[in-house]
Amino acid sequence: MTKEQTLSMIKPDAVQRNLIGPIISLIEASNLVIKQMKMLQLSIEQAENFYRIHKDRDFYSKLIEYMTSGCVVVLALEGDNAIKVYRDLMGSTNPLEAKEGTIRRLYGTNITHNSVHGSDSLENAIIEIDFFFK
Ligand code: CMP
Repeated sequence: MTKEQTLSMIKPDAVQRNLIGPIISLIEASNLVIKQMKMLQLSIEQAENFYRIHKDRDFYSKLIEYMTSGCVVVLALEGDNAIKVYRDLMGSTNPLEAKEGTIRRLYGTNITHNSVHGSDSLENAIIEIDFFFK
């Protein structure tokens, strides 16, 4: 197995509902190790940059408005196959389609307020971890 790092972000809906602790417990129970962690409120510029891949999507402005609406917690996670392990733990983007026991099924309320983000590839994990921790 390959040791990898991935970026996790606990989004404003989860921070506002006091779900940082429960989400971190699920992360640690999945054998992912927190290597770096911080809380911040994204500026519009930071959110637009982080989600620039979605800039032509119809949900983009709603996404930026939401992601800048409150604090987020960002974590660099490490473990064997960390990217897949964390994506499996998050569940599908839409909480209504996410499997039982996943973070988004447990805590997400809709496709925008879906509680967590995670890197989708090794390449993006490096870019996203650098974005917050370089
Ligand atoms: P995330 O994993 O952070 O990556 C992009 C985000 O866009 C996604 O989670 C969702 O919160 C949000 N989003 C809103 N609407 C959609 C949609 N229709 N399809 C995909 N992502 C969406």
